[in-house]
Amino acid sequence: MLSGKRIAIIGSGTMGRALAGGLLRSGKVEPGQLAGTARTRQTAEKLSHELGLACTTDNAEAARSADILVLCLKPKDVVKACEGLAARSALVHAPLVVSIAAGVSTGALEAALGSGVPVVRAMPNTPCFIGKGMTVVSKGAHATDAHAATALEIFSTMGRTMELEEKHMDTVTALSASGPAFLYVVLESLADGGVMRGLPRAAAIELAAQAALGAAEMVLQTGRHPAALKDDVTTPAGCTIAGILAMEDGRIRSVLARGIETAARAAGDLGK
Ligand SMILES: NC(=O)c1ccc[n+]([C@@H]2O[C@H](COP(=O)([O-])OP(=O)(O)OC[C@H]3O[C@@H](n4cnc5c(N)ncnc54)[C@H](OP(=O)(O)O)[C@@H]3O)[C@@H](O)[C@H]2O)c1
Repeated sequence: MLSGKRIAIIGSGTMGRALAGGLLRSGKVEPGQLAGTARTRQTAEKLSHELGLACTTDNAEAARSADILVLCLKPKDVVKACEGLAARSALVHAPLVVSIAAGVSTGALEAALGSGVPVVRAMPNTPCFIGKGMTVVSKGAHATDAHAATALEIFSTMGRTMELEEKHMDTVTALSASGPAFLYVVLESLADGGVMRGLPRAAAIELAAQAALGAAEMVLQTGRHPAALKDDVTTPAGCTIAGILAMEDGRIRSVLARGIETAARAAGDLGK
């Protein structure tokens, strides 16, 4: 699907550069198929230097010669940039536009881009930097299944992918994009418990992180419900159930679930 397609990454900051790197490492895209843009020459030169890609500060110029635009701009900048592309008639060839801006709806992007431009919204997360990410995509009003499949292929170079309806995007942002930060807090807390019992800090962090990695793989690879996997390791009168009950006394489940609910509401306010 990406073979021969020209991809312009509009906004070559942290996420834009990670995406460009992932696409190149996957071998699905040749350097000549990729171009980038940035607001300043300094960032444009950084992308050219790091990845050997053509990079300009002129979004319209990059868009005109692209089949796919991936908007890796901050939410506050993305609508204005789309209006700029439409004003300079840079999208008359109706390229696919993929946006990763949190909280900015496909409707807002479509209104800024002008009539009929196919838009797919995507929400990646930072583990994409090491090829272990999760990206959810949603189609806009003018995007087809083929457009969604193209977006899924782009982000599959950085980890797992899934398509969901756009109404879920704020919740996806909280659970999947903010999720790593919540899990870092959990990992730090588990490691603190180990340190309290005398483990060296580095050992405690490694043990907590590997336990989380293994548990996550067990859920994904077996497809079993986390509660069933938890039951497997809670020996009657054992240490695991003793630890779980102590955590339940601190309302661990509702604290984490309410955290997601609160973050999802905040995600909905980002594009306003
Ligand atoms: N970081 C995450 O975990 C994560 C996860 C999911 C989604 N996202 C989304 O990813 C998007 C980008 O985040 P980021 O962390 O990559 O931001 P970033 O590092 O600040 O990068 C934004 C880039 O956009 C460039 N830029 C600004 N205005 C521009 C314009 N009008 N035309 C062309 N380029 C322009 C900036 O160029 P200069 O450097 O020259 O100013 C900068 O390089 C955000 O919308 C965020 O919601 C982030």
